Amino acid sequence: MSATSSRKLFVTTALPYANGPFHIGHIMEYIQADIWVRFMRLRGHEVHFVGADDAHGAPIMIAAEKAGVTPQAFVANIAAGRKQYLDGFHIAFDNWHSTDGEENHQLSKFIYQQLRDKAGLITTKTIEQFFDPVKNMFLPDRYIKGECPKCGAKDQYGDSCEVCSAVYAPTELKNPYSTLTGATPVMKSSEHFFFRLSDAKCVEFLRHWALDPQRLQPEVANKAREWLEGDAGLGDWDISRDAPYFGIEIPDAPGKYFYVWLDAPIGYLASLKNYFQKTGRDYDAFMADPATEQYHFIGKDITYFHTLFWPATLHFAGLKVPDNIFVHGFITVSGEKMSKSRGTGISPLRYLDVGMNPEWLRYYIAAKLSAKVEDVDFNPEDFVARVNSDLIGKYINIASRAAGFITKKFDGKVSMQWATEQDTFLSSLRHAGGEIAALYEAREYGKALRAVMDQADAVNVYVDANKPWELAKDPANNARLQEVCSRLLEAFRVLSIYLKPVLPALATQVEALLNIAPLTWDDVSRPLPDQHVVNAYSHLMTRVESKMLDDLFDAPETPAAAPAATDIEAIDAEIKIDDFAKVDLRIAKIVECAHVEGSDKLLRLTLDVGEGRMRNVFSGIKSAYQPEQLVGKLTVLVANLAPRKMKFGVSEGMVLAASAQDEKADPGIYILEPWPGAKPGMRIR
Ligand code: 2FM
Ligand code: ZN
Repeated sequence: MSATSSRKLFVTTALPYANGPFHIGHIMEYIQADIWVRFMRLRGHEVHFVGADDAHGAPIMIAAEKAGVTPQAFVANIAAGRKQYLDGFHIAFDNWHSTDGEENHQLSKFIYQQLRDKAGLITTKTIEQFFDPVKNMFLPDRYIKGECPKCGAKDQYGDSCEVCSAVYAPTELKNPYSTLTGATPVMKSSEHFFFRLSDAKCVEFLRHWALDPQRLQPEVANKAREWLEGDAGLGDWDISRDAPYFGIEIPDAPGKYFYVWLDAPIGYLASLKNYFQKTGRDYDAFMADPATEQYHFIGKDITYFHTLFWPATLHFAGLKVPDNIFVHGFITVSGEKMSKSRGTGISPLRYLDVGMNPEWLRYYIAAKLSAKVEDVDFNPEDFVARVNSDLIGKYINIASRAAGFITKKFDGKVSMQWATEQDTFLSSLRHAGGEIAALYEAREYGKALRAVMDQADAVNVYVDANKPWELAKDPANNARLQEVCSRLLEAFRVLSIYLKPVLPALATQVEALLNIAPLTWDDVSRPLPDQHVVNAYSHLMTRVESKMLDDLFDAPETPAAAPAATDIEAIDAEIKIDDFAKVDLRIAKIVECAHVEGSDKLLRLTLDVGEGRMRNVFSGIKSAYQPEQLVGKLTVLVANLAPRKMKFGVSEGMVLAASAQDEKADPGIYILEPWPGAKPGMRIR
């Protein structure tokens, strides 16, 4: 049962993007990994467990710009919020770093140079992409919208249509626009760097690594097989992005940066290196040692990156490849995908704020986890039942039944003479440790906890058969009472070892109660010494109350009285008053209005904004108005919009109008008209 020889392990979780706080999905992954790490340490292995923020990429650059700060400051601010979650849920990373750290810049460049110079796997190709001429940057697909090429629905993303589900390339969108500036993107070519994954030696290596039957989970291996053996084969991987980009500049290629997914996993190594430097350890020796084992816990959505790109990157850079990738599913709430707007999202901070015990969640999540890639469901009633009936009812109660008598009647002394004999009651409990350990190591936590609770059931049978509270009524039974309670405390001690990876803070309380050194797995077979003195029992853990669960969920974002979220377009991200103040809205008088020859959408408006000159504005309202209906009316103009050159002339501003999201539900366009009394040139504020 003892760990025969000590192993050296390097363990990570996926690195979260530094653009928002942790959500419950992150916490679940960290709990899964933390349990494994704690288990391995209890077994006597040397484990280094690190994380970091994934700092780079266009979305973080843009979010920082919107917030009016540098990307570095933006990321630092997010990083500063991490500790309260990690401490709060007892997640004990040895180090938390950033992919923008110096170590990552160096390692990423080194790895790239190895791939280029030693492996000959880097190539360049000129590719054409959408470019935002206003922002002067290439547009990632997520920032391009337009009309669906199939059904014509407006405001669809560049990959697929939410209305008719058509799938297409961004270049197929009709009237595409940049969601960053509203500008019409132009096609522009630029040179990109590629990792030649299609090269036969890459495919051969990945087949060997990913399809080794000893390695990936069966579901993951099946996916890898599809990717590796499918007709499409592996394509070369585009690893560069053009400036402006928040990332690591590519050596010998000014203005080109590594795509965030190239340097993100290298951040695993960077965090370990940073930690080793801080603690005076030898990073190079550790990573060069063939005995060092490397494992990454990740979510199923990033399997491709971790089972293909990452091992190939490491292997062809001449570095250690991961021993395995441990993939988990998503967390659902009462069987549904979490949704903030429906109020089904569990906020980890709220969980802690309402005073819920973090170890309840650790226990519950562990009880639901297996080694499969299946989703984990958080069900509030089930949560209450598991915590109260298993954790409190079966486990904590053993101590609360026995410890009081030992303190009150025997000065805290246990009698352990019986423990030296062949003791069937405790030997089966100790014997179960082998199976429980194997289940933990295989990440079958649900099964491990079931095995522990089966043992707790057996202990409770012993409690009921021996009824210490009955024995205590007659002093003639004292010797028997001390033995029964001592056995129960010994059983409780062994169960506490089995639960320690999941309940580390509780284990510390138990060690204080039993007056013993921190428990390790080997202590399963080392009973409390005879006449050992334990401390007085104090409460170890309270029951969960169902009403606590009600406070846990995010408030639905749409108030009950408002129309259902599906009836109106989602409200945009919050802005500050200063953002609004940038838009100069003026009352304008429509002096003239005419059809535009050659356009089936536009009307030409001649507007008086009180400036002593007329403005020419094209407006896409032809389907809703006849020119004569509009002449003489007042409306609202965006007066400081950059003039836009159109096929029919220059448009000097934009008239405001309302429309439904779903054109089919209401094709109307309704221009705005002020109340009587407003004059041309007045500002709207
Ligand atoms: O999907 C994500 O959240 C990524 N930030 C994960 C990166 S994992 C590793 F590669 F850094
Ligand atoms: Zn469509």
